[in-house]
Amino acid sequence: MAETDQLGRPVQDLRVSLTDRCNFRCTYCMPREIFGPEYQFLPQEELLAFDEIARIARVFARMGVGKVRLTGGEPLLRQGIEDLIARLAAIEGIEDLSLTTNASLLAGKAEMLRQAGLHRVNVSLDSVDNATFRQVSDVNVSLERVLEGLEAAQRAGLEPVKVNAVIQRGVTDDGIEDLAAFARARGYTLRFIEYMDVGNTNGWKLDDVVPAREIVDRLEARWPLEAIEPAYPGEVAERYRYRDGAGEVGVIASVTQPFCGTCTRARLSAQGELFTCLFASQGQDLRGLLRRGADDAELEASLRGTWAARTDRYSRLRAVATTSQPKVEMSYIGG
Ligand code: GTP
Ligand code: 5AD
Ligand code: SF4
Ligand code: SF4
Repeated sequence: MAETDQLGRPVQDLRVSLTDRCNFRCTYCMPREIFGPEYQFLPQEELLAFDEIARIARVFARMGVGKVRLTGGEPLLRQGIEDLIARLAAIEGIEDLSLTTNASLLAGKAEMLRQAGLHRVNVSLDSVDNATFRQVSDVNVSLERVLEGLEAAQRAGLEPVKVNAVIQRGVTDDGIEDLAAFARARGYTLRFIEYMDVGNTNGWKLDDVVPAREIVDRLEARWPLEAIEPAYPGEVAERYRYRDGAGEVGVIASVTQPFCGTCTRARLSAQGELFTCLFASQGQDLRGLLRRGADDAELEASLRGTWAARTDRYSRLRAVATTSQPKVEMSYIGG
């Protein structure tokens, strides 16, 4: 039976972080000054084991979750990920099993992931210009490797292959049309993402956000567009079809048009905390619960209780705060 929260939203998607590590140092996500050689990542024993993840996913599937996304950090850094995929793919009710990755390790793994039961991938790629790609990812991995990863995913049938591009004013906004032309030519579904104030380390300013409206206007000026319906209820991207038939493109306007009203996502951190919002400051310790010996019934009761109490709508509150007083939003998250 589906469980709804205090705002009437059912739980439908589970996003599972497999590791807090990443081989990239994107300036807005893991800036090198903070995530340097001294940074302490979680030791292996702190991570949820595959058994534990599969158990939690099974219980969520009973509560109505049909979509599971593996993420990170960089999920392909987790050894044996294919074993987890095989277990998750076998769970009754999980109809969409996908992975969010920077694609640097995808070329060698795409076929194996598909064989294990992965359905599709979303690749984070903010620019197809070599210099800008390097500047943003701040790592010695070539753009070419990422592009090979994308091609391998398509060849392996991990489709639709989506490309997620976070756009920052003055950093990646001049490459919007080039990215779109690239994705159109190769048949990838590109989504432009408004730069968000996640975490505490990226020095986010509202001025850095390029509103989705502006992106759509720029695309429209070059390639006429037509708005299309969401592919599923609660989809975060607004979708458009190119009128010339070259596929679709989307925007994720989490800052200027928050979608908290339809937010059906639960998030599981690499160490097993359950977060009911991307911006929450605290999670529920499911690993502790499991390692103390809780059975599935106890786990289910606990998850249902947490979801039933949920009131999160951070982006909605931020929008209200920032339209009048640009800096007030911190008080909504309690610093
Ligand atoms: P599909 O299942 O392919 O539609 O993927 P998705 O869009 O749900 O997941 P993906 O990881 O590709 O998300 C793309 C981006 O949308 C994320 O990187 C975030 O920037 C943003 N996003 C996704 N979910 C949320 C959410 O719940 N809240 C907010 N504020 N942003 C979100
Ligand atoms: N704003 C928007 N999207 C972000 N991502 C990481 N940090 C931010 C941010 N500050 C995106 C990545 C990737 C996904 C997992 O999250 O680009 O697509
Ligand atoms: Fe963050 Fe993704 Fe960049 Fe890694 S590749 S630093 S997880 S945005
Ligand atoms: Fe969901 Fe929180 Fe994002 Fe709103 S801000 S859409 S509640 S994750």
